[in-house]
Amino acid sequence: MSKKEVRALSWKRKDLLDLDDLSAQEIELILQCALPMKEVLSRPLKKLPTLRGKSIALMFYENSTRTRTSFEIAGKILGADITNFSVAQSSVYKGESLLDTAKTLQAMNIDLVIIRHASSGASEFLAKQLRAGVINGGDGQHAHPTQALLDFFTMKERWGDFRGKKILIVGDILHSRVARSNALGLKKLGAEVVLIGPPTLLPPEMSYLGVRTSYNLDRELPGADAVMALRLQLERQQSGLFPSLREYNRLYGLTKERIAKTGKDTIVLHPGPLNRGVEISSDLADSVQSVIEEQVTNGVAVRMALIYLLMGGGTGNVVA
Ligand code: CP
Repeated sequence: MSKKEVRALSWKRKDLLDLDDLSAQEIELILQCALPMKEVLSRPLKKLPTLRGKSIALMFYENSTRTRTSFEIAGKILGADITNFSVAQSSVYKGESLLDTAKTLQAMNIDLVIIRHASSGASEFLAKQLRAGVINGGDGQHAHPTQALLDFFTMKERWGDFRGKKILIVGDILHSRVARSNALGLKKLGAEVVLIGPPTLLPPEMSYLGVRTSYNLDRELPGADAVMALRLQLERQQSGLFPSLREYNRLYGLTKERIAKTGKDTIVLHPGPLNRGVEISSDLADSVQSVIEEQVTNGVAVRMALIYLLMGGGTGNVVA
């Protein structure tokens, strides 16, 4: 599909919950729409009137730095009013349910809800109940679609096209919503994806994602165009899912020396937050091969694009 054809597509969805039901063309439309949004970010005056009068609620039931902040910045640049719903100071602590909380916000005429929740399926549940649009900012171990979209944007900026590209995703695949959303989307875009981790964090049932799996990082490195390290959730060690941080680092930790085995000008991604010295060495995280800070910047542009498409009913023809 050409860029012109992608631009001609219009967005018809109320919600963005996962990438599994998006077509490759819809993903391309979001990425295309994020391009002019990124240009706006480099302006001295970063403010558009596009969504003036629209309101967005951020409902984060789990901690977040990048996702929450970038959605807030994205919405404000587009001119929307943002309500930061603070779980700690809310009636959630008096036992108010997720649905009643969301309906209360809707009764205040909120147009879009962005939710992060520890329960897989929380965003889909809300989307079915609310007139307002819903964006999934990460739900349990299920999906983190906006993280995957910003990862795609970052890779596309480098390569233009995903076909023929080999992308390794390394770490705790079993518990990772980032790995799942990336694998589903990258497969649609035509990339070769390999999920890599120790057998305890990469059980055979992960093959349902339809991409290759491997326990051996060093064997997969040659020819890799991108390597994405996942944050190792350190509490997993208590559950006996990996023996020690040193052992994990020896087999799966990304270092400059290890990345050199790709034989290519490979880029290194990480969704954050980083465990430096565990899944990625500090010198690699801060090297020119690392695109971790670009991912964060691109997160704002991609989230602007999504908010615009969902609230503006727009097409890829964004004129900012
Ligand atoms: N990548 C990501 O979701 O980061 P936060 O938890 O800081 O939002």
